[in-house]
Amino acid sequence: MAPMTTTQSPASPAALPRIAVLATGGTIAGSAADAANTSGYQAGVVGVDRLLAAVPALSQVARIEAEQVASIDSKDLDVALWTTLAARIMALAAREDIDGIVVTHGTDTLEETAYALHLTVKTDKPVVMTAAMRPSSALSADGPLNLLGAITVAGSPAARGQGVLVAFNNRIHSARDIVKTSTYAVDAFQSPEIGALGWVQDGRVEFQRTVVRPHTVATPFVASEAWPLVEIVVSYAGASRAAVDAFVAGGARGIVVAGTGNGSIHASVQTALSEARARGVAVVRASRVGSGHVMRNGAAPDDACGFVSAGTLNPYKARVLLMLALAAGESEPAALQRVFDTY
Ligand code: SIN
Repeated sequence: MAPMTTTQSPASPAALPRIAVLATGGTIAGSAADAANTSGYQAGVVGVDRLLAAVPALSQVARIEAEQVASIDSKDLDVALWTTLAARIMALAAREDIDGIVVTHGTDTLEETAYALHLTVKTDKPVVMTAAMRPSSALSADGPLNLLGAITVAGSPAARGQGVLVAFNNRIHSARDIVKTSTYAVDAFQSPEIGALGWVQDGRVEFQRTVVRPHTVATPFVASEAWPLVEIVVSYAGASRAAVDAFVAGGARGIVVAGTGNGSIHASVQTALSEARARGVAVVRASRVGSGHVMRNGAAPDDACGFVSAGTLNPYKARVLLMLALAAGESEPAALQRVFDTY
C-alpha cells in the first residue's frame, strides 16, 4: 500500500478543519516555580486555554474549540473518566462540523486510556491523544509541539478510520501498540516490536502502515458505568500467593498476571491463580518484560488451568481488554481467548 500523506498548506480560516480539544491534565498542563525543574512540578494545573494560547501556529492549522474535562495527574485516574471521555468524544464526533478530536492526558496512564477509548468510541473520525514529559513552565517544554502535532493529525483525512492514535514527539502510534518506555526522556513512548504508524512534522502527516485489528466501530465494547473489577499481580523470585488471595477475597472478577519471560508464573502464584479460576475468576497471562508476546501454553498450561494468553498486550492493556470482555458478558476461557486473539 502506498503511504498515506497529507500536507497542510496555507488555507483561509473557514477552510481549516474544526478540531475539539478535550483536556484532562497531566504534565502537559503541569507547572513548576523554576523553569529548570522537570521533575518536581504539579501536574494538571494549567487550563486548556493557556495551553492552546502557547501555540500561536495553531491558528494556521485548525479552528479549535476546547473543553476542560478533568485536571488530574493521570496516576490518579479512575476508570470512570474513560466513560466520560468516550461519551464526550462520541457526542462531538456526531457533530457534522467537527473533523477530529484531540485528548490531552498525562503520560503515566496514557496507554491505558488510549486503548480503552480505541476499543469503545464509535466513530471513524480521527481521535488523537497527546501528552508531554516536561511541564509547560519548563525550558524546552515538549507540550506545545506535541499539541501542534496532535491537532495536525486530527485534522488529516489520512487519520480517519485508524482508531485512537497517539501523536507524540513527531511520531504517530496506534493506541493498541504504544507504551511508555522512559521515566524522563522526551522520546518516552514506543510501540515495541511493531513500531510507529507514521509521523507528523511541519504540517505534514504521513502514515506508513495501518491498524489491522478491529477497533472503535468494529468492536462490541462500550464504556459502561460499571467496569468489572480486574486486578494485576506480578510474578517474581520468591513471589507468594498473598496478592491473588487478597484480590479474590476483594471480589475481583478477573486477574491479569504480569509473568516473567513468556508469561511464566511462580509455582505458588500459579496454584493460587488455578484455584481462583476454579472459583470463576478470569485469569490472563501477560508478561512483565515490556516487549514480545506471550504464547498460549508456552510457559504455563493454559488449557489445564483455564488461563488465557494476552498475546502482545502488556498487563495494563490486557486489564483494559479483560474488563471490557467481562462487561460484554464473556467469562469462559475459550471465549476470552478469542477476544484476546481478535482485539
Ligand atoms: C501524569 O501522568 O499526569 C503526570 C506525568 C506526565 O504527564 O508525564
